[in-house]
Amino acid sequence: MTRAFYVTTPIYYVNGSPHVGHAYTTLACDVLARFMRLDGCDVKFLSGTDEHGQKVERTAEAAGMTPQAFADKVEKEFREMAKAMKATCDDFIRTSEPRHKKGVTKFWERLVENDDLYLGSYSGWYSVTDETFFAEKELINGKAPTGANVEWVEEPSYFFRLSKYQDRLLKFYNDHPDFIAPASRRNEVISFVKQGLIDLSVSRTTFTWGVPVPGDPDHVVYVWLDALTNYITALGYPDTEASDFATFWPEAHHIVGKDILRFHAIFWPAFLMAADLPLPKRVYAHGWWTNEGQKCSKSLGNVLDPFELIKTYGVDQLRYFMMREIPFGQDGDFSCDSMERRINSDLANDYGNLIQRVLSFVAKHAGGVVPKKGTLTRDDEAMLKEVQSLYDDLKPLLAEEQAFHKYLERLWRAIGVANRYVDTQAPWALRKTDTDRMETVLYVLSEAIRYITILAQPFLPDATEKILDQLAVPKNKRTFANLSAESALVSGTALPNPEPIFPRYVPGGSHEKTLAR
Ligand code: MSP
Repeated sequence: MTRAFYVTTPIYYVNGSPHVGHAYTTLACDVLARFMRLDGCDVKFLSGTDEHGQKVERTAEAAGMTPQAFADKVEKEFREMAKAMKATCDDFIRTSEPRHKKGVTKFWERLVENDDLYLGSYSGWYSVTDETFFAEKELINGKAPTGANVEWVEEPSYFFRLSKYQDRLLKFYNDHPDFIAPASRRNEVISFVKQGLIDLSVSRTTFTWGVPVPGDPDHVVYVWLDALTNYITALGYPDTEASDFATFWPEAHHIVGKDILRFHAIFWPAFLMAADLPLPKRVYAHGWWTNEGQKCSKSLGNVLDPFELIKTYGVDQLRYFMMREIPFGQDGDFSCDSMERRINSDLANDYGNLIQRVLSFVAKHAGGVVPKKGTLTRDDEAMLKEVQSLYDDLKPLLAEEQAFHKYLERLWRAIGVANRYVDTQAPWALRKTDTDRMETVLYVLSEAIRYITILAQPFLPDATEKILDQLAVPKNKRTFANLSAESALVSGTALPNPEPIFPRYVPGGSHEKTLAR
């Protein structure tokens, strides 16, 4: 049976334009989605926008627009960002859509039926920027731990009995050691829960931009309860049987930034337990990007614009850099220097040169067709073995660990082996002494490039498509099922004229100016 796989980005607040942090989460999900599709899974990849709440309402007000009109404008930018990043989302949900609001209403009613909500009143601190309630003892110099301003709030509120779920959550983490990743974050969550959970305020009365509480329209549902529910409303919830819900929900993988792990690893599972629904498979918290050593923030004016980065460097280049530069899960710094270094060394010198050397040599000296295989030597067998073992090495790194950087490191090791094989076999010398042997070497190299490129597809969708076209690999023979001798290149197949794939980045363009915006 085909395995189902469900991967989600957080839904993005529409109070501002997309930046590189958003692009990063979307990219990681896309790489995973593409990998699982190539691996034969039935994949659903969801992204979307978080449109309700006080933050969006206030931003819209300041812009002289209604929250809906404002959200309509900004959500388009998020869709465009996903497209520009080549993200293959299967669905994009907006919390202002009727399908979502209907699901939130039902979800709330389930919590009521289960006696998990009660009416009380909240008095305490609230950060509109974070859309989060904070206890006095959590504040640092009168501000939220994120540095955001807080304001005093006193209002009637419904509360969710979060405290009731403390032990069940701890048992769940214990029984499912892979539920939260990476391990360091898992430990943080567990120790937070062990310190004791208090009931959570889940409705607001001082503004109206949200889903009205069923039966008590003076309240709107707290934006996080509303937002988290998107992961199931997009699957057709409250219809849990005949919809995508039955197929995909048990296979859910949420990828989120470390700042919002608490919501996904504590509140969300508790809400789901209260609604008698299964819990997702995994929540992976990635790190944060800084820009040239500084936290990206609007006030510092150093927010990295993904559209500009794509224009300057190219989309595959940006995708490769972000996935390779920092171990997934850790924080990392974006610098133009390291970006340019990776473009020129990893892409142009290592991968690009390998393809260029082999394919232009084949075009010039082997008649522009897939070369003859001939008899393989031990060196040839070793080269082929290197690429044939790649899939088994790589699969757990993505499917189980989500270690994107390790995947690329391993793949580039094979590229290194192939480049050394070119040097030691020296086809340019064989051209003069032994053309049969030259053909075999070129055949082995073309096969090696085929394996490497099929496996590079999740990261470099544009470049790999061109490379596989240049090797005349049929479109229906590009999945991981084709990483086998049966799908090997067929000698004599005509090849198109090779073209360079990874240009070197030449400084002196307009990149510094554009990035400083
Ligand atoms: N709306 C909530 C999520 C609700 S999900 C049910 C939200 N939105 S957000 O737009 O503020 O952030 C979305 C994602 O972008 C988060 O995963 C966050 O960690 C990520 N990033 C925002 N800035 C970032 C960096 N500078 N670096 C990496 N990721 C960062 O939170």
